[in-house]
Amino acid sequence: MNTVLLTGGAGYIGSHTAVCLMRCGYGVIIADNLINSVREVIPRIEELGGRAVRFHEVDMCDERAVEELFSASPDIGSVIHFAGLKCVPESVREPLRYYQNNLGATVTLMQAMQRHGVKRLVFSSSATVYGDPETVPISETAPVGGCTNAYGRSKYISECIMQDACKADAELSVVLLRYFNPIGADESGRIGENPFGVPNNLLPYVAQVAVGRREKLFVNGNDYPTPDGTGVRDYIHVTDLARGHERALRYTEAHKGCEAINLGTGKGASVLDVVREFSNASGVDIPFEFAPRRPGDIAVCYADPRKAWELLGWKAEKDLHDMCLDTWRWQSANPNGYTD
Ligand code: NAD
Ligand code: UD1
Repeated sequence: MNTVLLTGGAGYIGSHTAVCLMRCGYGVIIADNLINSVREVIPRIEELGGRAVRFHEVDMCDERAVEELFSASPDIGSVIHFAGLKCVPESVREPLRYYQNNLGATVTLMQAMQRHGVKRLVFSSSATVYGDPETVPISETAPVGGCTNAYGRSKYISECIMQDACKADAELSVVLLRYFNPIGADESGRIGENPFGVPNNLLPYVAQVAVGRREKLFVNGNDYPTPDGTGVRDYIHVTDLARGHERALRYTEAHKGCEAINLGTGKGASVLDVVREFSNASGVDIPFEFAPRRPGDIAVCYADPRKAWELLGWKAEKDLHDMCLDTWRWQSANPNGYTD
């Protein structure tokens, strides 16, 4: 069996990707230090994926623990590297912690891969590497590196590290997946996004308002140059995203070198579009209030997804209604996340 190591695989995107890969016949090993996830997700992944997961509680920055993991798992054929801290305002307050964790994990992982002859890697990058884009839709040839916070720069620098490693080793195959805005949940409602504390991103906040955990949504900015004045983003269903990883893994099996590929739908939705669609899908009114713009936010961001189609044969299939419906199914069945 083809075995894949998922670093950060207990998290939101990793857990959905694990299920997708298990359903496609891959063996899955998850290495996660649970800094932003909980152990309770593992049995749910197994329930949905229909087989056992090998779970290791490991900090990917810990060289000795990572070496032990690879030594104990000689069947690892490829790696998907999700592990990282992802909160933008936190990264502005604690840049060194973000660089230490996100870059430390990348380098430690790649050194272990090198020692053990593992040549295939898929990386969780982000549309944030494009900064404030000059034009939309954003294609992979747009300038990168213009991000304004330590989180975004840690993604950009990780991409550079991987590109350099590929130049030095012609056998390496790396796909940098630049995600746009992943939302939604597995349609079973058994796994989903489970933020600790006050959600930073739009959908988890809206979902917690709908379920009564928060009073109202603050819409950050209604004076952007967009049709309704609120920010426009390319929301993508997390199960579509998970399929994109499976396609990227297959691509690494047949190609060498480093490719950056957008995973987005190619369509923009405003904050008010999301609020309207979530109310429709859930049947719950979402009270909101306009508030100032969030520092560092951009007006409009959506992908040109053609390269993913051309290279991976992948495109998004689910729409905003599906994304809201599935988020609601997860949130209403698990109002307090995995602790329910
Ligand atoms: P998440 O926080 O739910 O998952 C990340 C996982 O990594 C968590 O389970 C966390 O415990 C683990 N982790 C962090 N540091 C670790 C370390 N040193 N060692 C081992 N485990 C560690 O986040 P997510 O939304 O699933 O995102 C997955 C990846 O995708 C992240 O790298 C994130 O930056 C990237 N990404 C996410 C989004 C998004 O909107 N969710 C967008 C673009 C890129
Ligand atoms: C954020 C991150 C980005 C990351 C992306 C995906 C910031 C500044 N950027 O981007 O680096 O790659 O998530 O994880 O955090 N909004 C509200 N009220 C809220 C929350 C959000 O109005 O309570 C608005 C925002 O202003 C934005 C839209 O909703 O217009 C989407 O916000 P969010 O979900 O945080 O994603 P991004 O801003 O795209």
